[in-house]
Amino acid sequence: MKKTIVSVISLLILVLGFAFAESRKDWSGDNHNAAHSNIEQSQDPFDKMMLVLTHQRCVNCHPAGSKPIKGDDSHTTRALGIPRGADGHGLKSIDCSTCHSEENNDFSGVPGAPEWALAPESMIWEGKTRVEIATQMMDPKRNGGRSPEEIMKHLTEHELVLWAWDPGVDSEGIPREKPPVPKDEYIAAVKEWIDNGAIIPNE
Ligand code: HEC
Ligand code: HEC
Repeated sequence: MKKTIVSVISLLILVLGFAFAESRKDWSGDNHNAAHSNIEQSQDPFDKMMLVLTHQRCVNCHPAGSKPIKGDDSHTTRALGIPRGADGHGLKSIDCSTCHSEENNDFSGVPGAPEWALAPESMIWEGKTRVEIATQMMDPKRNGGRSPEEIMKHLTEHELVLWAWDPGVDSEGIPREKPPVPKDEYIAAVKEWIDNGAIIPNE
């Protein structure tokens, strides 16, 4: 009798334990995916815009250090690590235009667009949250003295920005990844967000 009770209890514990583990697994797994796909499928203009701004095609030119970072994994290279220099165009002896022209060179894998240069230190995006990036981008003290209309124009028309949807191939001939939102959807999202007062969520 005692033995049966013990085995019933241990069976119960076992079943409950499994059920608990299962429910935890479901809970954490589902929640994570849901949060992720919520942002990716979001129709919210801020979410859409920030999926682009935090993509490596933008961040590689808005890096934290003094040198550009490269590729879909945002690596630094010692061999071609040309520093930002005083104006973002590199050094007097060797500047960005020594290698980068106004268009992609798909033979050498050197990307290019007009005015190719590194964003200044006040516009560093690497390692920052969406909210931090948006806040400094709308702050005239840090965004090059731009009004919201000028930021909208830069975000939707500047050639260095639009290059992200025509990024060419890298030095191994592999196409660079484009931002996860199509260009026209991104442009519409930026306009909608700024037209509605450029409200940055608290997160
Ligand atoms: C080739 C390098 C390069 C790439 C790629 C690049 N930028 Fe920039 N970005 C710059 C430079 C240089 C400046 C500073 C230009 C100036 O102030 O006139 C800048 C400035 C800006 C600004 C002005 C305000 C601020 O606070 O940053 C915005 C907005 C911006 N970039 C957005 C983007 C977005 C969005 C992408 C990707 C879709 C992108 N950039 C990709 C080089 C780049
Ligand atoms: C000695 C030649 C050379 C110079 C000078 C040079 N680069 Fe590059 N850069 C390259 C090459 C080659 C690549 C392509 C590497 C690859 O993607 O495999 C590259 C890639 C990049 C990328 C990566 C783009 C991406 O999204 O993957 C950025 C950003 C960049 N350069 C910015 C700059 C800036 C800004 C300057 C000037 C301060 C500069 N480079 C100076 C040769 C150079």
